[in-house]
Amino acid sequence: MTTVLTDRRIVSDIDPFSPEFRADPFPHYAQLRDLGPVVWLEKYDIWCVQHYAQVKAVLSDWENFSNAGGGGLTNYFKTKPWRRPSIILDVDPPEHGRTRKVLMGVLSAPALKAMKPGFEAVAARLIDAALDAGTIEAVNDLVLPFPLTVFPDAVGMPPLDRHIMLKYGGMVFGAFGPTTDWYHELMRDAETVSAWIDAHCERDVLGADGLGAGIYAAADAGDITHEEAKLLVRSLLSAGVDTTIDSIGLALRALVDFPDQFALLTEDPALARGVFEEATRYDSSSQSLFRTTLREVELAGQRIGKHEKILVLIGSAGRDPAKWEEPDRFDIRRKIVGQIGYGWGIHGCVAQMMARLEGEVFFRTLGEKVGSLEHAGPSELRLVPGLRGLARLPIALTR
Ligand code: HEM
Repeated sequence: MTTVLTDRRIVSDIDPFSPEFRADPFPHYAQLRDLGPVVWLEKYDIWCVQHYAQVKAVLSDWENFSNAGGGGLTNYFKTKPWRRPSIILDVDPPEHGRTRKVLMGVLSAPALKAMKPGFEAVAARLIDAALDAGTIEAVNDLVLPFPLTVFPDAVGMPPLDRHIMLKYGGMVFGAFGPTTDWYHELMRDAETVSAWIDAHCERDVLGADGLGAGIYAAADAGDITHEEAKLLVRSLLSAGVDTTIDSIGLALRALVDFPDQFALLTEDPALARGVFEEATRYDSSSQSLFRTTLREVELAGQRIGKHEKILVLIGSAGRDPAKWEEPDRFDIRRKIVGQIGYGWGIHGCVAQMMARLEGEVFFRTLGEKVGSLEHAGPSELRLVPGLRGLARLPIALTR
């Protein structure tokens, strides 16, 4: 069979950054999948892929689909980014391999094992407090304090002012989409917030045995420079908090929405890992990524020009019926092979085992301690462009 390259494109006026799309992206994903494998989104002059097969193909092919064009709508080949690009996420091989290896080294299995008791203690304290209260707003009272405590602790950060990390996260992930009034307002504090983050990436601020210290030790060993060490600590602080808060929040909401699945977890808290794994497929913080073509390429019969942006909808790939049986069903016993929620290929989340550990500990503690869980009011989404998450989740829980 010969593939005919064509410049005729499937064009859509769907706006993936509109509030309606982001409020409930799943029917829009289905619409996009029905349109075809590669769609041109005319509002932003970008391409879009939405099936598991093409999402995986693009993420696997770094020689054609680059990260150096930036992880958002802004095309770094054409426009200057707001901050110095990440030296891991926004670079291609060979630069990428060197910095990635350092983070892989500090996030090793023994390092994660050492973190686990601390995670368990914090999860137990927060869930006990939630049970004492009975009715809570779970995002701010339960979910958010968990990563916001255990993650900076693991990095070795001092305990004060950690909420600033959330503002920084907003700036990082907010830069993903078109700039809005909300984003301009947030960026008014950019200088102060960036200065705080910068100061907290310095070696002398970080504890002697955390992930930060491990990164600086790699610099001492000559694997990276000390300036690069600081930027790698910044990468952890950029990507490590909002992602897990939002993913745990959405996973918790899925459990409240599906009482049969929550009942399974209480019967067997060892299913906690399955809860988080399934939620990462079903409804999770990272719904979309970007790649930029390095040259003219052909993808599923579509010709794509050089330096063009492609929106890679991993959230849609997680619901593609060609890959998953009954994809819209939340099933914590599903055997997930080929998880796409952490991305794929050389940039696939470097900290995914740490994220999984946070999720597992949180939901295991929940399954062990909580007997009943229900909504106590409507939940609300937090519409930050680069991430999907909840602003509010009122729940009632008992022992
Ligand atoms: C449930 C939580 C998380 C989710 C869903 C998630 C998702 C992702 C995804 C989809 C990517 C791929 C980006 C791309 O290919 O363009 C990624 C990369 C990355 N993530 Fe995560 N992440 C999570 C937690 C974390 C945490 C806790 C950290 C820090 C400790 C982290 C650090 C990173 C870094 C540094 C990269 C860049 C890796 C590279 O370019 O090689 N992530 N993450």
